[in-house]
Amino acid sequence: MNALDTLAQLPRLDLRRFTSPVQYLERFSAKIGVEVWCKRDDIGTVGLAGNKVRKLEVELAHAIAQGARHLVAEGSRLSNAVRAVAAAAATTGLRCTLVLCHDEPCEPVGNLLLDGLFGAHLRFVGNASWPELAQHAEAVVTELENAGERVYRLPIGCASERSSLGFALAYAELRAQMAAQGREVGTIVHASSSGGTHSGLVLGNALHGSPSKIRGIVVAGEVYDDVPGQYLAFARGGARLIGAEVELTRSDINLTEDYLGDGYGLPAPGVMEAIDLLATTEGILVDPVYSAKAVAALIDLAVRKELEGPVVFWHTGGYHALFDPHYSRKVWAEIERLSAVRL
Ligand SMILES: Cc1ncc(COP(=O)(O)O)c(C=O)c1O
Repeated sequence: MNALDTLAQLPRLDLRRFTSPVQYLERFSAKIGVEVWCKRDDIGTVGLAGNKVRKLEVELAHAIAQGARHLVAEGSRLSNAVRAVAAAAATTGLRCTLVLCHDEPCEPVGNLLLDGLFGAHLRFVGNASWPELAQHAEAVVTELENAGERVYRLPIGCASERSSLGFALAYAELRAQMAAQGREVGTIVHASSSGGTHSGLVLGNALHGSPSKIRGIVVAGEVYDDVPGQYLAFARGGARLIGAEVELTRSDINLTEDYLGDGYGLPAPGVMEAIDLLATTEGILVDPVYSAKAVAALIDLAVRKELEGPVVFWHTGGYHALFDPHYSRKVWAEIERLSAVRL
């Protein structure tokens, strides 16, 4: 069996229950002068929408096979990853504890509200860096194991060698959808932080021997000491798990920090304009923390003529942040200005 067959037969849960469409963005494309398609991974149930679900389908199949009964995940109150873990735990009947880098009480809005609604136990550990948060999560795992729980810990953003295979599968799905439209995949643009999405897409591209360019737009700084090195390790590790002999090097990892702005969850140039343009041309929502930074990059790179088409904006989800008052107030305050400067 070749590696692509092994990948296709990978044990995985069906958490999404449907194949997300790829959609030509006709009006948006006309505005920015490049052919843009959108892979609609933002569509799904409110809990299980977004890119993390693809990772969880593979990771949780493995966790359950290992006998896990309790999931532990870490993140911020904005995290789509921990919200998806909470929803996936609910739907698979696993217990779930989330370790969150905030003080209690926090306003119960956006993803945080959903985390609670899906029945996750929330542990607030106060302001913590990513490495400190990981230490807190490890301590919670030890505590639960000492209490007799069979725990499976998901790393930050649910990124791992195994979960990157969820996105290698996703690449194959997109390629087939674009082929059915008579189109190839020129460039994929997506928001990137913990790396599972990027490493999986890079691996999928390599497994198909395709020349697509995968461009990760960094939305969170310093997630790892060596970000490209860690992404490469995920992609290579994923390849090893399916016995694929593909040559992957650092040059396959294509990340830009130019659109990070002031940092994770903080303002960046072009973000409000990106939210406005996609909403008013296509009725598609992107959020200021993740996906709007990728769209801001896409628009800027298109205007500079630095994108090879057809371009696919991989919509990784995250619209929930728009309903967090911190962001909704900012977006609302900008709407009048944006309507005056619209492309
Ligand atoms: C909406 C959204 N887009 C993109 C990302 C980044 O994906 P990855 O962690 O796989 O790099 C995340 C991760 O938190 C996310 O929630």
